[in-house]
Amino acid sequence: MLDKIKQLQEELSNIKASTVEEVDELRIKYISKKGLVSQLFSEFKNVPNEQKKEVGQAINVLKNFAQDKINELRDRFNNGTPKDDGLDLTRPGESMKPGTRHPLSVVRNEIIDIFGRLGFTVAEGPEIEDDWHVFSALNFPPEHPARDMQDTFFIEKDPDVLLRTHTSSVQIRVMERTQPPIRSIFPGRVFRNEAISARSHCIFHQVEGLYVDENVSFADLKQTLLYFAKELFGEKTKIRLRPSYFPFTEPSAEMDVSCSICGGKGCNVCKYTGWLEILGCGMVDPNVLESCNIDSRKYTGFAFGMGIERITMLKYGIKDIRHFFENDVRFLKQFESAI
Ligand code: PHE
Repeated sequence: MLDKIKQLQEELSNIKASTVEEVDELRIKYISKKGLVSQLFSEFKNVPNEQKKEVGQAINVLKNFAQDKINELRDRFNNGTPKDDGLDLTRPGESMKPGTRHPLSVVRNEIIDIFGRLGFTVAEGPEIEDDWHVFSALNFPPEHPARDMQDTFFIEKDPDVLLRTHTSSVQIRVMERTQPPIRSIFPGRVFRNEAISARSHCIFHQVEGLYVDENVSFADLKQTLLYFAKELFGEKTKIRLRPSYFPFTEPSAEMDVSCSICGGKGCNVCKYTGWLEILGCGMVDPNVLESCNIDSRKYTGFAFGMGIERITMLKYGIKDIRHFFENDVRFLKQFESAI
């Protein structure tokens, strides 16, 4: 019997609990009516008379000890948290690394900054659009195959609700509400129903530029884009404008920059041409100005649009567009120093 008491005493001196529930379980196990300590009292009647005094005392000591021990454990949870379980609360916390900017944001901010220095302000428009702002006002005739140049996501129930395929829609929104002079850029997300691969994605980002005023000429466009290219890719960068077609600009062009990787000598990124195509541009078609109630005899303008993913890939040598959307920290961490 005495051995049993000693054993229980030892057990009790080691009990631990990390929740109030656990304390209660221990209380039930040891000191409730059917608990281990109480059981000793019922076994007491079998103790030979000459040992009764000694054993009785020992049981009483054990009972008090058990009660104190349980009370002590319970006290720790009185204010909801354990008071002391070996935690050093003065220990400095683990330092957490702050997040870093996404490479697309880094490049978008840089583009905004460069055009900001030329006096371009920033405006935004909705991603969910209608036919007028994405196509009709931009001089896409109805049923014209040019609409197929961009695979549009339409809402089945209402073909007049669609996801914008380019940020040119923001040109219309801005011109509808402001008379020239207008000098703004419009960064934003665009959507095209394209198969996802290393080179294209159904969601990507563009920056659109628009300058409308009296006497704006193609020379202004070229000079603006040359300044932009040199600021973004370096002072040695050259540009080249190739004739192209967009319904909303006339004349239209595509701009190439000299390959920043090989310096124009030819490499696998520029497919040994020395040039990289980075944007579409042109003089705003008078029909577009008129759609927005801007007098096309008084005002002229230029517009340009570029994909942020493509520029970021060229700038940082990123081979697969899907990296931008996967949020793999091993990829994102590499842009820690970019701001
Ligand atoms: N919106 C065109 C595109 O997405 C780019 C562009 C913008 C071309 C402005 C000319 C002028 O391809």
